[in-house]
Amino acid sequence: MTTPAHVAIIMDGNGRWAKARGLPRLAGHRAGVEALRKTVRAAGELGITWLTVYAFSSENWSRPKTEISDLMGLLKIFIRRDLAELHHSGVKIRIIGDRDGLQPDIRALLTEAETLTRNNRALTLVIAFNYGARDEIVRAARKLAEAIAKGEITADAISSETVGAHLDTAGIPDPDLVIRTSGEQRLSNFLLWQAAYSEFVFQPCFWPDFGRTELEDALQAFAARERRYGGVDATKQGVAS
Ligand code: IPE
Ligand code: IPE
Ligand code: MG
Repeated sequence: MTTPAHVAIIMDGNGRWAKARGLPRLAGHRAGVEALRKTVRAAGELGITWLTVYAFSSENWSRPKTEISDLMGLLKIFIRRDLAELHHSGVKIRIIGDRDGLQPDIRALLTEAETLTRNNRALTLVIAFNYGARDEIVRAARKLAEAIAKGEITADAISSETVGAHLDTAGIPDPDLVIRTSGEQRLSNFLLWQAAYSEFVFQPCFWPDFGRTELEDALQAFAARERRYGGVDATKQGVAS
């Protein structure tokens, strides 16, 4: 079975999971953190090299203040409680998104997590936090415009590679597989550039119910896909075609 090197997950449905149980949304987000722990472990065991998770979008600021502060709190708890164990298991942490928009204590925690784990070689866990793909592309465009204004590069030197190198994901391969839970079938501003040729798997379960089995199901669906990148699959061409 072909295992994707890079799996990206839109962890969606915490609120609906809680609602279905008559619980506050916070309970859903807490259960979501537990699902994340399980998924990181399973991803490593299943031979995935890169796991990107969408944890807070640049549009999630439009939620009620209390929910935003709950989500910020959970990120802090996750890093504080899990960092040592993740480091011990050889997990490397990378954060993508706009850090300038985050509180200084959160920024410091994110930097600490990246610094501590930077030489680890097992799984790389990429956390998209205060991330929006349009915002990421805008920030990259600004950096490129500044480089041109300073005379460091010329406009015709801009290629897919230079744009990619100015995104938050510089150095990270494109996701092979993008999974979204909760039944919604949209990207919600996630990895617009990087997912150009990704395979998509949409699963009906809410994120807190996601685990190793659901990940394995998605990997199985991925293995059955035929990726063509705009070309033709030479092995499937008959003589007449
Ligand atoms: C995903 O669950 C977590 C975040 C977006 C932070 P939601 O909070 O979006 O849950 P639903 O979609 O309302 O069920
Ligand atoms: C996408 O989920 C963002 C994260 C999972 C962090 P949303 O719940 O915010 O997306 P929409 O609003 O349903 O598109
Ligand atoms: Mg949602």
